[in-house]
Amino acid sequence: MRRTVIAGNWKMNMTPDATRAFITELAPMVEGMNKCDIVLCVPYVDIGPAVDAARGTNIHIGAENVHFAKSGAYTGEISAQMLCAVGTEYVIVGHSERRQYFGETDTTVNLRAKAALDAGLKVILCLGDVKEERLAGITDEVVRMQTKLDLAGIDAEQLKSVIIAYEPVWAIGTGLTATPEQADETCGVIRHAIAELYGEEAAEEITIQYGGSMNDQNAEELLSKVNVDGGLIGGASLKCDKFTAIVTAAN
Ligand code: PGA
Repeated sequence: MRRTVIAGNWKMNMTPDATRAFITELAPMVEGMNKCDIVLCVPYVDIGPAVDAARGTNIHIGAENVHFAKSGAYTGEISAQMLCAVGTEYVIVGHSERRQYFGETDTTVNLRAKAALDAGLKVILCLGDVKEERLAGITDEVVRMQTKLDLAGIDAEQLKSVIIAYEPVWAIGTGLTATPEQADETCGVIRHAIAELYGEEAAEEITIQYGGSMNDQNAEELLSKVNVDGGLIGGASLKCDKFTAIVTAAN
């Protein structure tokens, strides 16, 4: 049985002090909710404080990006080794905001994913269609292509440490959510692409999240879909009560 994973993506929000306070508040609220894995992906400066605050709880800590080199002349970047050194377990790669605003391509996303997996991190690989692609009816082709390009050179063993997050770009931060049927269908297309690459068993086992304006109101219905194995949550992960409600829905 594949795991349901509820992951927060804090984006560029929260200071170290706010991080400690948030996790101290959240931990008792989600205690014992073990039918899903709970992850908070936080800004680099918050990782250390988050790891400390989450110690002994069922909350796991991730980063929001990672560079593909181990070290070197890459001003402003952070390597997988650095993330591991401060206790990071997960990392998001390929988020649409990185692709849109920071020029990331399937090639760099693939390099970042491989570097993270080589270092022993679990990867939350984001992909998804933009509005024009959805309107043109080419969503399936787009996500199939992204799945194959972003996973190039990642073997079946490493795939066990990969979670895919289907995030329609038109739904991120817009308040527009994919319908549960759209989310289910497109996560299913991604699962089918995984089957082509790695076989049926791997496709059955991989966790595929939905992301894009998931909140305490719509989580239960989205998560009830057979191909939706969790959520990557932006805005609603910044509020303890809303995030807890989504974790509760997953449980
Ligand atoms: P949102 O963000 O929940 O605020 O739409 C989701 C994401 O970007 O991962």
